[in-house]
Amino acid sequence: MTRVLTGIQPSGALHLGNYFGAIKQMKDLQDSSDLFIFIANYHALTSLNDAELLKQNTLDAAINFLSLGIDPDKTTFYAQSDVKEVLELYWVLSSYTPMGLLERAHSYKDKVAKGIAPNHSLFSYPVLMAADILLYDAQIVPVGKDQIQHVEITRDIAIKFNNAHGDIFVVPEYKIDENVATVPGVDGAKMSKSYGNTIDIFCSQKALKKTVGKIVTDSTALEDPKEWRDCNVFALCKLFLNESELEELKARYKNGKEGYGHFKMYLKELIWDYFEEAREKREYYLNHMDEVYEILDDGAKKASKIAKEKMKKIRDAVGILR
Ligand code: ADP
Ligand code: TRP
Repeated sequence: MTRVLTGIQPSGALHLGNYFGAIKQMKDLQDSSDLFIFIANYHALTSLNDAELLKQNTLDAAINFLSLGIDPDKTTFYAQSDVKEVLELYWVLSSYTPMGLLERAHSYKDKVAKGIAPNHSLFSYPVLMAADILLYDAQIVPVGKDQIQHVEITRDIAIKFNNAHGDIFVVPEYKIDENVATVPGVDGAKMSKSYGNTIDIFCSQKALKKTVGKIVTDSTALEDPKEWRDCNVFALCKLFLNESELEELKARYKNGKEGYGHFKMYLKELIWDYFEEAREKREYYLNHMDEVYEILDDGAKKASKIAKEKMKKIRDAVGILR
């Protein structure tokens, strides 16, 4: 089976964009690939210096992903920092990373432009990402568009290393899911934490109602027919509906006699019902943290076994005694 690996930044509450843009695809990959998913907490350290928050975010990410259907029996699910070999490889790879390669990284330039301190770790972020990928011989790396360049940097580093030492590393490919639509936020722009326009998956019913109520619509009168094509409420409903349900909703739009308030209410119910099982699981894990730690331990054990063997070959190749 193809080895597929992806990392997730632990950065707080998850929203509908995260679920339909990334997590759902990961769930689908669990049955068809040898899937590795890890919580990239070392990466999060590059832009977060609140210890308690980082610990909390790491645990939250574990709980949230498990609740949303990442199955540790099918997927190697672990925290990045639980397999220390990744830091050793990061250092080794640094010697095969031309400065120019990192200087061209958009993500670094964007983050600095946003006001994040230009630390060395922020600059060398792609090298750690290369270590994440190359340590486990990942063949495919599913990522969002903003991460393509990082996988290309990984490929460049792997090729440079292989040219020097023989075929030690698998040269990975990125995978973008072209079928995934951008999920709009309440203001119609791309849903994103940084735009403050998210609909969060694990919020209270009251908060959900309030957020859905804020979705921007046009001002067509209640009794008049409505256009579903550019409607944000419709676009969000679509995520949850099958073909025939979608046709029914279109008919309701065309028919008029219902206001956006009704469609928002419908959307709220769709969201709330869809994540019911996930909410229950989350409640369970919150009350059984020992199980969460155990799952992370098991994942780290599986990952470590591969990492340790790989590191031995790498040390040997570059001349580190043992
Ligand atoms: P945010 O923009 O809220 O910070 P992240 O950058 O942490 O979200 O995104 C994590 C994952 O979720 C990425 O793989 C990204 O492609 C996906 N994602 C985030 N927002 C959306 C969206 N609005 N539509 C589709 N996918 C999204
Ligand atoms: N940089 C990725 C992001 O911000 C997270 C990540 C870290 C990752 N290491 C990785 C993704 C390795 C894929 C493979 O989303």
